[in-house]
Amino acid sequence: MNEEVSSEALISAQAIDARIGELADAINERYAGEALMLLVTLKGAAPFSGDLARKLRVPLTIEYIRARSYAGTERAGEVVFSHLPEESLEGRHVLIVEDILDTGHTARRILQFVHGQSPVSVALAVLLDKPSRRQEAVEADFVGFTIDDHFVIGYGLDFNERYRELDAIYTLEPGD
Ligand code: IMP
Ligand code: MG
Repeated sequence: MNEEVSSEALISAQAIDARIGELADAINERYAGEALMLLVTLKGAAPFSGDLARKLRVPLTIEYIRARSYAGTERAGEVVFSHLPEESLEGRHVLIVEDILDTGHTARRILQFVHGQSPVSVALAVLLDKPSRRQEAVEADFVGFTIDDHFVIGYGLDFNERYRELDAIYTLEPGD
């Protein structure tokens, strides 16, 4: 595919930074007086979780989970974990940090896994939400931006592992 990155950002670096500040305020308020475990989904949520964590003011631990989904194939909807958290989630307040909520298959499987580990509470924070694409009844507790049905890249989001390093979010457009 001869894809092209949009010349203008859909969401600028400044807008991302400002919105993460608002999300952090809401998360700080929700977990005041509690210790929180961020469960970051690799690889896409790495930049988001780093910027978010630096703005949080509650005692934090950070764990990672990697889920791969097979949307668009005969195994559509199947999700396989290739990395699991190293610390126990039992008795913890767990905040799952995801880059984007699309069909909802990945988040549903991660939520299922986390609920099975006996945490005290579970919530989901996503930088981007594409509700028009949803196939599973999953809703995030903290949403950065709700976007239309665009394929987006940058700030952790990839197309074939490219563009994760961009500091803003762009749409990917088919080239000629
Ligand atoms: P879901 O299981 O369909 O909700 O998909 C979630 C995963 O698909 C995300 O964590 C991303 O890795 C990927 N994804 C979905 N939409 C986009 C997009 O617009 N750009 C880049 N990756 C995406
Ligand atoms: Mg991802």
